Formats: sequence, structure tokens, C-alpha cells
Amino acid sequence: MYRLLFERVLARLDAERMHHLGFGLLRALLCLPFLRRLVRRFTSPPDPALTIEALGRRFDAPIGLAAGFDKDAIGYEQLYALGFGFIEVGTLTGQAQPGNPKPRMFRVVRHRGLINRLGFNNGGSLAAIARVSRPREVPLGINIGKTKAVPEEEAVADYVLSSDRLGAFADYVVVNVSSPNTPGLRNLQAVELLRPLLASVRASLDRASPKRHVPLLVKIAPDLADEDIDEVAALALELKLDGIIATNTTIGRAPLSEDEIARVGAGGLSGAPLKARALAVLRRLYARVGDRLVLIGVGGIESAEDVLERILAGATLVQAYTGFIYGGPLWPRRVRRELSRLLRARGYDSVRAAIGQGVLLPRAPG
Ligand SMILES: Cc1cc2nc3c(=O)[nH]c(=O)nc-3n(C[C@H](O)[C@H](O)[C@H](O)COP(=O)(O)O)c2cc1C
Repeated sequence: MYRLLFERVLARLDAERMHHLGFGLLRALLCLPFLRRLVRRFTSPPDPALTIEALGRRFDAPIGLAAGFDKDAIGYEQLYALGFGFIEVGTLTGQAQPGNPKPRMFRVVRHRGLINRLGFNNGGSLAAIARVSRPREVPLGINIGKTKAVPEEEAVADYVLSSDRLGAFADYVVVNVSSPNTPGLRNLQAVELLRPLLASVRASLDRASPKRHVPLLVKIAPDLADEDIDEVAALALELKLDGIIATNTTIGRAPLSEDEIARVGAGGLSGAPLKARALAVLRRLYARVGDRLVLIGVGGIESAEDVLERILAGATLVQAYTGFIYGGPLWPRRVRRELSRLLRARGYDSVRAAIGQGVLLPRAPG
């Protein structure tokens, strides 16, 4: 039914307006805690096989909502009720900012993709404090980025401003250096710049939360060269980060036609066209870091098969954004149920048992 509605009606309307409409409706419908509990009981029947301990806490499913959907942390409890195992809010920046001129979000329905150049539209990390500091059940990641108006030389201070403010309330914090829509941001992935940035955010989290270790992850682009991926992996180990999120959207345009590319213009491409590269980046990271870091696989995940493929490639947790848009509000429930079935069918009694099992280990010499 959602598919029909999507194809006949939703896909014809402006993507960003539809997002605000749909999200607004969800927030209104599920504004009462008892309704959220009821819905969650329907979407998320407990299954010990889906439960996973990671980043110092328990997730009742490994499937999370990726950053960008709830940038200002205004509806993560409602989104969680739909059946996600965790929600990542943000990207939040040091200062509030409007983002790029509209239109700035487009569907490429033929390829089950999205292109966005939102440019971190958000109300800023100060305003978000009130919303993330309430007691909650939802495992919550907080994703932080750089304010556009802040010059690159002052980027570290802008990230630290946000981690000082929000770190104590996060189940994990993500340093986002991989959005293609803030000029110069992805340059911060170069290790000379990334080292001081991550070290400063780490120190900020330790100050903000002296009693509880707040896990820190870095989110990388799929467009990095393989050697750069290796360097980020080595740096993450050196700085004792907790994990890496792979990947953000791509500036690549395959397999779009010339017409589609011209119609949409600049921005990051997500969804099915990103699947193969995001998986390849994850595999490369797992080959470098193994079990020493928590890898979160994201990019083009549409089904439980895709989820299991990422887990077998080395992901402990996964996330989706575009697959959820195309799949509708019942998508997380469907994928949960199907993943439960798939795991058992493949002989795994837990997510943990499946992590990295699709990787061929080098044969011992002799
Ligand atoms: C409309 C839109 C907005 C996004 N905004 C953010 C963001 O603010 N911060 C971020 O780290 N990633 C953002 N992303 C990237 C997603 O979190 C995710 O990494 C990417 O879309 C790949 O996953 P997917 O193929 O499941 O969508 C955004 C993606 C989309 C489609």
C-alpha cells in the first residue's frame, strides 16, 4: 500500500516537503508515551538473536536510523517506536544555520536513490541540549559537524563546542567529516587535520562526561581512495576511537543518466547506487581493524539480506536512511522480522556470531 501511495502521490511532491510532512505526522500521532510503547510492542517483538552488546550498551536490534533524518533531535522517540534499534540524530553544528537554497533534496526513483545538498540545515547544538538531555530508553547517537560560516582553521573549536554541549547525553558521538555539502569539510579526512580534530573531541567528551566513557566514532565518505581509508583506520586505532561509520553519501553519479544528473545538480547520492561501494569500504576497514573497532555499515541498505551482508562483512551495527524512505514506516519492522529468520536459516544464533563471518581469512602458511 505504501509503495502504491509512494509511486502515485508522494514521489511527485517535493522530497523535502514530504519529509517534513511525514515526519510531522509521525511526531503528532505518536506524541504520547503509551502510544509509542504500544506501537513499539507491535514493531519490535523481542528476539534475543537480534540483541547485540556494543559501544558499552545493549541494542535490541542492530538496525539504526542514519544521521540526517532527525537533524534537530525533535522526533527520535517516535522514530524508535517504528522498530529501529537505535537512532542517530544530527548533523548538529556549533551555530544554527539555514542550509543551502531550496530545492535541495531529490528522488531518483528509477534507481531507488536520493540526492541531497541540504548543507547541514539545523538549529545548532545549543538548542538541541534540551531535547537530548531528557531521560530516555532510545539508544541515541549524536552526529556533529562544522558550521559553514566557521573558517577551516577554526573547525576544531566548532566541533568541540558541540561535543562539550552534547557529549554527556550521547550513547555515542560521531564526528562527521564526510558530507559533500559543506565546502572543505571532507578535507578534514586527511590524517594531518583529522588527528587533532578527533583528539580534541575525545578530550572534550572526557571532560563533559568524566564518569562514563562516551564512545567516539568518525564517519567517512565512500569517495576516499583505498589508501586514505587505510590511513583513517590506522588513525582510529592510534587514537583509540571506538568505531568508524562507513559511509556517507557519494559525489559519484553512476548509474544515473545525463538527463537525471543535469536535472538534479550537485549533492550527495544515497540509496541503491551506493550499495556496492559502501560494502567495499566496510570490507576494507574490517580487513584492517578486525574486532578492535565497532564498524557501523551504512549506504544502500534496503533489505534484511543487505543487513546480513554488512554484518558478515564485519559490521556490528548498520544504519539506513534512503531504504527507509522507499520502504515506508513499516520498513524497520519488516527488516527486523526477516533478519531474525535469515540469521537462523544461516545457522547463526546471534548477530554477534555472524560478524565478519563472510570474510575469507588468509590461509596459514604451509
Ligand atoms: C536527505 C539526507 C540527509 C542527510 N544528512 C546527513 C547528515 O546531516 N549527517 C550525516 O552524517 N549524514 C547525512 N546523510 C547521510 C546518511 O546518514 C547516510 O550515510 C547515507 O544516506 C547513506 O545511507 P543510505 O543509502 O541508507 O541513505 C543524509 C542523507 C540523506 C539522504
